[in-house]
Amino acid sequence: MPGIVIIGVQWGDEGKGKATDLLGDRTDWVVKFNGGNNAGHTVVIGDEKYALHLLPSGILSPGVTPVIGNGVVVDPEVLFAELEALRARGVDTSKLRVSANAHLITQYHRTLDKVTERFLGKRQIGTTGRGIGPAYADKINRVGIRVQDLFDENILRQKVEGALDQKNHLLVKVFNRRAITVDEIVDELLSYAARLAPLVDDTGLLLSDALDAGDVVVFEGGQATMLDVDHGTYPFVTSSSATAGGASTGSGIGPNRLDRIVGIVKAYTTRVGAGPFPTELFDDDGDTLRSRGFEFGTTTGRPRRVGWYDAPITRYATRINGITDLVLTKLDILSGFDRIPVCVAYDVGGRRFDEVPVNQTDFHHATPVYEYFPGWKQDISGARHFDDLPTRAQEYVLALERMSGTRISVIGVGPARDAVVVRHDLLD
Ligand code: GDP
Ligand code: IMO
Ligand code: MG
Repeated sequence: MPGIVIIGVQWGDEGKGKATDLLGDRTDWVVKFNGGNNAGHTVVIGDEKYALHLLPSGILSPGVTPVIGNGVVVDPEVLFAELEALRARGVDTSKLRVSANAHLITQYHRTLDKVTERFLGKRQIGTTGRGIGPAYADKINRVGIRVQDLFDENILRQKVEGALDQKNHLLVKVFNRRAITVDEIVDELLSYAARLAPLVDDTGLLLSDALDAGDVVVFEGGQATMLDVDHGTYPFVTSSSATAGGASTGSGIGPNRLDRIVGIVKAYTTRVGAGPFPTELFDDDGDTLRSRGFEFGTTTGRPRRVGWYDAPITRYATRINGITDLVLTKLDILSGFDRIPVCVAYDVGGRRFDEVPVNQTDFHHATPVYEYFPGWKQDISGARHFDDLPTRAQEYVLALERMSGTRISVIGVGPARDAVVVRHDLLD
């Protein structure tokens, strides 16, 4: 059972990093297959807290080979800064492999990300400003710069010329910014070439061979289902395939190599940036969830929008991704509420929707239909078996399981590595 995909069910920050880390000592490879340094994974190991953006969480597990797949957009400055910071804390980063086909984020992508957002005004997406969207736009537009281009200066120069040609018109004439010269970009990129060269590989081939040999490969998604460019709340999404299908295209292995699809879902909901969010709270309960759950962005520090659990979203994610197992995180944060609302359907102008409406306008106007569950007061962070949980917490979990269409295999009861209740082994 070697190919395991880990993806987010909601709008990100469900605790994917911790889930990957949980499998760490039984995993041989961890692959990041989409996104870039817009992701922010916090992993707590003992007294140490690690915040990773571009590097896959698996880099923290000795013995694991971390891979940055072809579907990722790599900002080389961030890559080396993150590697350096980990090395300074004694983490062995020497095994990292980077796909020759991954695309690069450069200065002009970061600039365009910021100025485009400013021009969108109230239609802003609320991006992380890391150049993610413009780098993927260049990839699809066939004017992207790939990792392998760094090793042929002639080609690199031609490609940068091609990429900057239209962009400089845009930057100068529309956005009123200075033009960017080909030389400054080529020089910047070449300055990374020697350090990057030993890390670069045909990662699709490596992973295929690893799977053939029976190795355990974890494909760690960034972002989440509702931020996926195809299946999320477009246009309030990221620019990559954050769903399970992206694990195949973003790492260069066939979909039949993916044996288990693990969806990570929070016991309530959060979202960073703009876009529809039916269960969003603007009251004291919202403030309580935000402060207890420490819901502030790992990447941008922005306070996350918070709301109750939305069952149709999990059902949708189960269907879109083919989820076989759910990891329900942060159940501990719900301790202390008298009653816990769960969204079971939506009301749109008097019409009931039991599933996520396909029409974006409907979803924007959806108000939640709630079912209420009795809360529990006990601190559950010490629970390690399902029976250790208060009966009402067990009932809450079982109700979510019934509504989601798949089993809840692991329950998170605290940030620490071992703060979990395992009902079904994810590797069985
Ligand atoms: P990711 O982007 O999906 O990897 O998630 P983030 O790291 O951005 O956010 C999840 C946060 O929740 C991190 O700070 C984790 O340490 C923390 N966390 C994960 N699981 C649990 C849990 O079960 N309980 C609590 N209290 N915190 C958790
Ligand atoms: P992890 O992996 C939460 C959101 C941004 C914005 C939208 C587009 O930690 O779950 P982008 O910079 O990607 O073009 O921004 O997507 N976003 C995230 N929200 N968690 C993330 O990653 C996110 N990555 C992007 O806030 O709304
Ligand atoms: Mg995050």
